[in-house]
Amino acid sequence: QFKFENILFEKREGGVGYVQLNRPKALNALCDGLFTELIQILKEMDNDPEVGCIILTGSEKAFAAGADIKEMKDQTFPHTYTSNMLGWWDEITRIRKPIVGGVNGYALGGGCELAMICDILIAGSNAKFGQPEITLGTIPGMGGSQRLTRVIGKSRAMEMVLTGEFMDANEAVQRGLVSRVVEPKLLNDELMRVSRKIASMSKPITMMCKEVVNEAYETGLKDGLKYERRIFHSTFATNDRKEGMTAFAEKRKPNWTDS
Ligand code: CAA
Repeated sequence: QFKFENILFEKREGGVGYVQLNRPKALNALCDGLFTELIQILKEMDNDPEVGCIILTGSEKAFAAGADIKEMKDQTFPHTYTSNMLGWWDEITRIRKPIVGGVNGYALGGGCELAMICDILIAGSNAKFGQPEITLGTIPGMGGSQRLTRVIGKSRAMEMVLTGEFMDANEAVQRGLVSRVVEPKLLNDELMRVSRKIASMSKPITMMCKEVVNEAYETGLKDGLKYERRIFHSTFATNDRKEGMTAFAEKRKPNWTDS
């Protein structure tokens, strides 16, 4: 029986899968054990027909303070290269249901990078984002140099990566890194509100929405538009597309069957 030591999770009402990083003594530093547990539960929720949306959050003090520096400190190049160290975090990008990330406190290094893998980010007003790897003599290794730059632009991303300085929640919302900022104590309510709404939609259509928006980050405009059009056409192969439009015409609420 798998024992979870670093995360808490539960299925909540309304089809929401709730996952909380829970390694308080290390401010949720992302050790290998935490990753193994996290990917297992995310995959389970991805495959659970009752779950329509996943919340990923941390504590009020920290979403995650980065990769585990103590675990990394004696690593050698041959080991990091042959084991493709940190490469396994890419598995989270293969979760197909939406992940709503909630950041209170520190989201640093790998913590900031994990937050940016989430599909929607909502921050508490105490959130602090940063890529301080340079202060440890290394560089971002889980996508920070790429995802941060795409979202906030070259100059500010370069400044953060080169100085290691943190960005506060207000700036993060102004620059589009997060959707909105709420009182830290209200973060969980807001995560639930958004996630329950998403989970009330048709699951296959929800997954298609996530897939096409993410395509915008991975391809050029011409190919992205073509990709979107094809997935749009494929919604016409679902019952939920017919139900959604019929319900509109009949002035009633749709009854999704996830088919
Ligand atoms: N790895 C391992 N342990 C960590 C950690 C990390 N990333 N961040 C914090 N901790 C541990 C601390 O060592 C401390 O442990 P002890 O009680 O055993 O000493 C405990 O968590 C509490 O931390 P602090 O006492 O430092 O708490 P603070 O409130 O004074 O400071 C902080 C908070 C500013 C976040 C500070 O902990 C800090 O700077 N952490 C490291 C941040 C960082 O550099 N992250 C990048 C990691 S590298 C990376 O992520 C590479 C990549 O791209 C994937």
